[in-house]
Amino acid sequence: MPKLLPLSSQSDAAIEALLDAAFGPDRHGRTAYAIRSGMRWLPRFSYAILRGDGEFAGLLQSWPVALIDEDKGTEIPLIMVGPVAVMPQWQQGGYGRMMMDRLVADADDMADAPLMMIGDPEYYGRFWGFSAESTGGWKAPGPVEMRRLLMRGVKQAPALPASSAGMLGPRQLHPAETGRPA
Ligand SMILES: CC(C)(COP(=O)(O)OP(=O)(O)OC[C@H]1O[C@@H](n2cnc3c(N)ncnc32)[C@H](O)[C@@H]1OP(=O)(O)O)[C@@H](O)C(=O)NCCC(=O)NCCS
Repeated sequence: MPKLLPLSSQSDAAIEALLDAAFGPDRHGRTAYAIRSGMRWLPRFSYAILRGDGEFAGLLQSWPVALIDEDKGTEIPLIMVGPVAVMPQWQQGGYGRMMMDRLVADADDMADAPLMMIGDPEYYGRFWGFSAESTGGWKAPGPVEMRRLLMRGVKQAPALPASSAGMLGPRQLHPAETGRPA
C-alpha cells in the first residue's frame, strides 16, 4: 500500500532528485519558479508519497504567493500548488490523484487563501474543479498559457472573481507560516 506523508519527512537532496527526474534539470527557469521566488514551501500543504517498498515515488509542494496590484498597492494572498511530480516509471498509477485529493481536503479544512496553479485543466479541472474562468486578468513574470493558469476556492476563501487582476509573485505583505527554502 502506498503511504502519504508530510513532505518534511524527506531530505532536501531526495526532493531535488525527484524533481529533476520528473521535470528535468532545467526546471528552474519555469515561470512557476519566478512566481514563488524566495518563498519557502508550506509544510502543511506539501506531501510525499512512498510506495509499499518505501521508495519515494512522488511529491506535491505548495507555496505562499499573491496577486499584486502595484497601482492600488494591494496584495491578495494565494496558495500556489505545484510542482506535483511522480517518478516517470510510476506515473498513471494514481499517486498524483492521491496527493491532490489530500491537498484539496486539507486546504478546504485549513487554508485561508484560494488555490492557484499552472497545470493541465484536463487533469486539475476534471478531478478537483480548478478553472481558468476567472484568471484572465492575471499576469505572470514569464510566459504562461492562459488556459493553464488555474484557480480553485477553498471553504474559508472562495475563488476570486473574474474581475481580479494583477501580477502573480511572492508574498510581501502577508507572510505565511515558514517551511524549507526552494
Ligand atoms: C501529472 C502527474 C502529476 C499526474 O500524476 P499520476 O500519478 O501520473 O496520474 P494519476 O494516476 O493520478 O492520473 C489519473 C488520471 O489522470 C489522467 N491524467 C494524468 N495526467 C494528466 C494530464 N496531464 N492531463 C490530463 N489527464 C491526465 C490519467 O490519464 C488518469 O486518467 P484515467 O483515470 O481516466 O485513466 C504526473 O504524471 C507527473 O509527475 N508528470 C510529470 C510532471 C508534471 O507534468 N507535473 C504537473 C505539472 S506541476
